[in-house]
Amino acid sequence: MSFKSIAIAADHAGYDLKSKLAEELRASGYEVLDLGTGDATTSVDYPDFGKAVAEAVAGGKAEAGVVVCGTGIGISIAANRHPGIRAALCHDETSARLCREHNDANVLALGARLIGEVVAKDCLHTFLKTEFAGDRHTRRVEKLG
Ligand code: RB5
Repeated sequence: MSFKSIAIAADHAGYDLKSKLAEELRASGYEVLDLGTGDATTSVDYPDFGKAVAEAVAGGKAEAGVVVCGTGIGISIAANRHPGIRAALCHDETSARLCREHNDANVLALGARLIGEVVAKDCLHTFLKTEFAGDRHTRRVEKLG
């Protein structure tokens, strides 16, 4: 399955990177559901934005999600509290590929204060184009549910 619609959100620390990734997604032909936040200067709480993306993906409003905060840690924890969500915090293309192949991750989490724009875009494209490998991984992913 290749994803076509992507829900994306960030807190204030992730806003700048989130805006660049949303633009990259639109330019690449994806349908983008931007769930905020709306600027980098107003301090907000990352759990609210992880929840928004998790609900959009779990509820079928988007096929996959992208969440960004300073480290990617808090917002990935928030997203993973929702049934049906497998959010993977990635720092490189290999983790972005393997979280799809092995874990069937449906949300990509990135840390804007830890990785640069180029690496983030590499992670994004690799995440979105990589298929779940199935086979023995299916049993394991089912146990996550
Ligand atoms: C915000 O200062 C920061 O705590 C947040 O973006 C994130 O890194 C939390 O995990």
